[in-house]
Amino acid sequence: MLNFQELSQKYDTPLYVYNFDEIDKNYNSLKQAFRARKSILCYAVKANSNLSVLKYLAKLGSGFDCVSIGEVKRALTAGAQKYKIIFSGVGKKDNEIKEAIEKDILMLNLESEEEMYRVEMIAKELKLQTRISIRVNPNIDPKTHPYISTGLSENKFGVDIKSAKKMYLYANNSKYLNPVGIHFHIGSQITQTLPFKEASIVIADLLKGLKAANIDIKFFDVGGGIGITYKDEKTISLYEYAQNIFEALGNQDVTVVCEPGRFLVGNCGYLLTKVLYEKKNEKKRFVIVDAAMNDLLRPSLYGAYHDFELLGANESAEKSLADIVGPICESGDFLAKDIYIQETKHDDLIIIKSAGAYGFTMSSNYNTRTRAVEVALINKEDRLIRKRETLEDLLALEIDFI
Ligand code: LLP
Repeated sequence: MLNFQELSQKYDTPLYVYNFDEIDKNYNSLKQAFRARKSILCYAVKANSNLSVLKYLAKLGSGFDCVSIGEVKRALTAGAQKYKIIFSGVGKKDNEIKEAIEKDILMLNLESEEEMYRVEMIAKELKLQTRISIRVNPNIDPKTHPYISTGLSENKFGVDIKSAKKMYLYANNSKYLNPVGIHFHIGSQITQTLPFKEASIVIADLLKGLKAANIDIKFFDVGGGIGITYKDEKTISLYEYAQNIFEALGNQDVTVVCEPGRFLVGNCGYLLTKVLYEKKNEKKRFVIVDAAMNDLLRPSLYGAYHDFELLGANESAEKSLADIVGPICESGDFLAKDIYIQETKHDDLIIIKSAGAYGFTMSSNYNTRTRAVEVALINKEDRLIRKRETLEDLLALEIDFI
């Protein structure tokens, strides 16, 4: 058991703690599943973009999947190899495209025909040829929360197969575009193997057609989306997952790219928060803590469940129904809803689990709350990897013109 009590005293709360040894384990287990073929794991930076997390993963050999030029630069700052960086996203701005081309990353992942012409135009201005991939939307239901489903026609991501073919033919004849990759990403927190398998088959089939048309695709990018256990979800077998991709590819010679985010960091992270007060009315019991939806948005935004532990709780003490809520002025500000928990008192520590992915990265300063501290645990030693923000940090960009 990690010494959460000591950490909370040393760094105060709200506090994010990431166990880097677990990140290592997860990275290697996925890499191992792909060992039969050439593969690159490109960690999805958006899941947890702390520089130390990126640096640690870069040292393990990871590449990076980025969705803004900011993330590309973060990855480079962390020591990423430029040929292991992918830049995706439905709405890249001109300056982002320009910088990505100049930085000579592995590929820009295009999400529309119009974007392709824009990238071509910018590459032409720069007198450079740029490597691209195209995000294909296979119209497959990932059977996950609608907000994190991305591979259906009703979602804004990628292009359909027909448009993709047209785009590849165009790009292949362009002096400034070099189509080297094919990409899909059907959603996040997927706990079934079948949607991945179906999508791989559809896209591998398209790849075959492209190869037959002499378009030399080298990277088969299967996106991210591998689900983790938050409560009692049964997760997929990594071996089966990789095997299905290999089977779909048959003997086509490509490097498989996988973009895991949550899988690598989700279960390695904990949000530590202290109890401030308890209150009850005739209907409900509330445990009010010092972390809030600005620190961890997932419960409010998706109704997501995060397991928790009341540290040092007397296991035999009676539990009763309550919500764990934060100090923010919104009824939607809760970290857990309708859960059973023992009576708490001021300063009791609650550990919110599986908070390593889309936790800190989705946090905000709503209600002028400074964002939490981040701490890494490596070989059981704690290292501060992001200081707590101060009010001065928050006000620094504001201009007093009155
Ligand atoms: N690749 C692409 C193109 C993506 O859009 C994403 C995530 C990933 C990879 C990584 O997916 P993962 O392996 O982490 O499932 N905020 C939401 C999740 C949004 C995911 C967005 N895209 C949440 O808290 O559940």
